Amino acid sequence: MPIIIAVGMQWGDEGKGRAVDLLSEDVEIVARYNGGDNAGHTVTVGDKIFKLHLIPSGIIHGHTIGVLGNGLVLNPATLLEEMEMLRQAGIIITPERFWISDAAHFITPAHRLIDRAQESARGKSQIGTTGRGIGPSYVDKCARRGIRVGNLLQPEAFREKVKQHFEDANKLLTILYRQPAIEVTSMAEEFIGQASQLIPYIKCVGMQIRHALKYHKIILAEAAQGTLLDLDQGSYPFVTSSCTTAAGIFSGLGIGIQPVDRVIGITKAFQTRVGAGPFPTELFDKTAAFLRGTGSNPWDEYGTTTGRPRRVGWLDLVLLKYAVEINGATELFLTKMDVLSGLDEIKFCTEYLMDGIPVSELNFSGGAAELERCQPVYRSTPGWQADLRPIRKWKDLPPQVTKYIQIIEAFCGIPVTQVSVGPERSAVITRE
Ligand code: IMP
Repeated sequence: MPIIIAVGMQWGDEGKGRAVDLLSEDVEIVARYNGGDNAGHTVTVGDKIFKLHLIPSGIIHGHTIGVLGNGLVLNPATLLEEMEMLRQAGIIITPERFWISDAAHFITPAHRLIDRAQESARGKSQIGTTGRGIGPSYVDKCARRGIRVGNLLQPEAFREKVKQHFEDANKLLTILYRQPAIEVTSMAEEFIGQASQLIPYIKCVGMQIRHALKYHKIILAEAAQGTLLDLDQGSYPFVTSSCTTAAGIFSGLGIGIQPVDRVIGITKAFQTRVGAGPFPTELFDKTAAFLRGTGSNPWDEYGTTTGRPRRVGWLDLVLLKYAVEINGATELFLTKMDVLSGLDEIKFCTEYLMDGIPVSELNFSGGAAELERCQPVYRSTPGWQADLRPIRKWKDLPPQVTKYIQIIEAFCGIPVTQVSVGPERSAVITRE
């Protein structure tokens, strides 16, 4: 069955956007199945830099259909902005090539306010959410009072539902969080005006994809965030509110369990994280500053969505192996290898000391609490000084780079098939 899944192996920001852009060359449909505009995917094409939060980056290719599945939560204001930004850049965004699931849920301005109010109420235990209203929208979905995209097709009932939502949100905001009340009528009308502009793009996405599969079309499913932010399998509670792993594709797009051709695990050659939560291999020294960059380049380690500096550290192979297993990854796409050029040695974590006892396999059912008890045990391999950015062939990679790749492969038990060595579309080396 022609399904390819591209999934992040870390805490998000692995470079999925550019990997998906590249993989999209040979597929017909590119589909997102989870999350919302908390995601940030950066793709560099020629002198253009696209920063996408919702629309799958594969839509930049003229031949693809871009899809937002039922597993997403959508803020119509940011979605419309993104559609316009792509149009301005010459990308065609029409109902023929951009579909939104009728069963996806909306994020409203009230969800954003609740997200921020809840974060400040958490005090020292903040999760460090993106403030985009993701959690509160999924809460409404699970509580079976969410506003679905398909509700737009019955305008009067939709208006009532939206007003009721804002009135309920007001109670929560004012009584529980002691925040100012929202002006229900004006906010509801503005929201309805924005959401209604999406009506032409509404589709029963699940059915369309099931049909496409019958005709052997190739579907590329793009996860948002990363495995370690998964609501169930990640470092709970420092996670997002959706299923970020490969498993999410079936319920998030509305298709049956199909044999999947490839599960491409995308990982940086080092480790990063935004927001709070345990990070065993985190660095705070001059190597951290080296890996993060100064922020003067769009590909430096600063959040695409929030602009926050990312926490950085050495590659954690214990976590990577866990992510490979959880997702059933068949291969790895290693990004940002060029960033490591100039280091004398490259460290990587192969086991932890948990309360002084060596562990090489993670039991994540303890969530963050378990990871917090782990001290990393490092091994190292020689670094390299060569600038990797001009290299385009595997055989031209310095031997120290191929040795590092072999270490990762041996530990994880799957091959590395692609390595990125710069931000441009062409700066990816595919293994011959
Ligand atoms: P939320 O998804 O905004 O609720 O945030 C929950 C956690 O997930 C926070 O630690 C965020 O920083 C993190 N997060 C959400 N989206 C992304 C992403 O696309 N990349 C990296 N971290 C993310």
